[in-house]
Amino acid sequence: MSALKMKVLGFMVIMLSISAIAKGDENENENESSSKPPILVKMVKGKKMCVKDWECNVLSRFCCNLTISDFFETYQFENLFSKRNSPVAHSAGFWDYKSFIIASALFQPLGFGTTGGKFMQMKEIAAFLGHVGSKTSCGYGVATGGPLAWGLCYNKELSPSQDYCDDYFKLTYPCSPGVEYYGRGALPIYWNYNYGKIGEALKVDLLNHPEYIEQNATLAFQAAMWQWMNPVKKGQPSAHDAFVGNWKPTKNDTLSKRVPGFGTTMNILYGDNVCNQGDIDSMNNIISHYLYYLDLMGIGREEAGPHELLTCAEQKPFNPSSSPAASS
Ligand SMILES: *[C@@H]1O[C@H](CO)[C@@H](O)[C@H](O)[C@H]1NC(C)=O
Ligand SMILES: *[C@@H]1O[C@H](CO)[C@@H](O)[C@H](O)[C@H]1NC(C)=O
Ligand SMILES: *[C@@H]1O[C@H](CO)[C@@H](O)[C@H](O)[C@H]1NC(C)=O
Ligand SMILES: *[C@@H]1O[C@H](CO)[C@@H](O)[C@H](O)[C@H]1NC(C)=O
Repeated sequence: MSALKMKVLGFMVIMLSISAIAKGDENENENESSSKPPILVKMVKGKKMCVKDWECNVLSRFCCNLTISDFFETYQFENLFSKRNSPVAHSAGFWDYKSFIIASALFQPLGFGTTGGKFMQMKEIAAFLGHVGSKTSCGYGVATGGPLAWGLCYNKELSPSQDYCDDYFKLTYPCSPGVEYYGRGALPIYWNYNYGKIGEALKVDLLNHPEYIEQNATLAFQAAMWQWMNPVKKGQPSAHDAFVGNWKPTKNDTLSKRVPGFGTTMNILYGDNVCNQGDIDSMNNIISHYLYYLDLMGIGREEAGPHELLTCAEQKPFNPSSSPAASS
């Protein structure tokens, strides 16, 4: 190719990119300038609200931001859960990226993975998946790829020691005859009352059919996201609120060492099964998954912040376990 032709081509490329920029400017009022799918923007009481393709398909201020698939792609999911389809994994073929993204569409308009800008959005996904990875891992000290590469190895408890039917709830969430409520899912659900509550929220009859969770990865992820996005009790923060900083601790919270951050998400999800017990393995395992995923997603574990925010070793639980709480 001659030097002249190269110059002409170069000139055309420049012209093309100028016209692309100009087009972008034209649409700026209606469309988010950077992202691919068209966004519908409305001002509601002076606040910008958006609808953005199927992934964020409800008018919401969160849908004006990037959606999860904009910053968390298939190859990243594959990196995080690289061993899940290996022959020794217990749920090989079950979990996939598509199920994760489809499930998230229910919660992105509510702020799941769409709050606070790209950096916080990525951190929240790493945090949520950190819980998921550690709760579904079959990694052990000498596992190939290291113990943290084995998240999403299970989709259910393999040798349940009981049927997890609590008769205390026989009026609200009666156990279905012959049905067992052992741990299933991405943040494993145990007990009739938890299946009942989550089933109600997702409008799926999980009380009579808890097995749906081990048959449907989208539903399993939705159930996990629901737990992340909702408080255990009214007046308490959800794990999401504690993580992204929506939650403002009270004086009592501060006295109980509960501060916004990853540590408190463990307090919310597991209470004193994991927290307020000092530096125990089950807690450190969850933290390690979170940090590992931050590294793999290119954020870097140093961005997780100081150790006080990561740990719940000395946090008093929001809900002390006098009665059986969600366990594992
Ligand atoms: C947004 O951009 C697309 C193409 O870039 C355009 O077709 C559409 O009219 C714009 N406006 C809205 C409100 O979607
Ligand atoms: C959307 O992202 C921006 C930064 O890009 C952030 O300031 C804003 O808070 C986010 N919107 C919501 C509703 O979280
Ligand atoms: C799996 O669950 C999702 C979410 O509840 C639902 O939309 C889908 O139809 C289910 N798939 C099957 C095969 O039942
Ligand atoms: C703070 O804690 C004390 C003692 O644990 C309790 O009696 C009080 O109700 C709590 N206050 C709030 C606002 O939760």
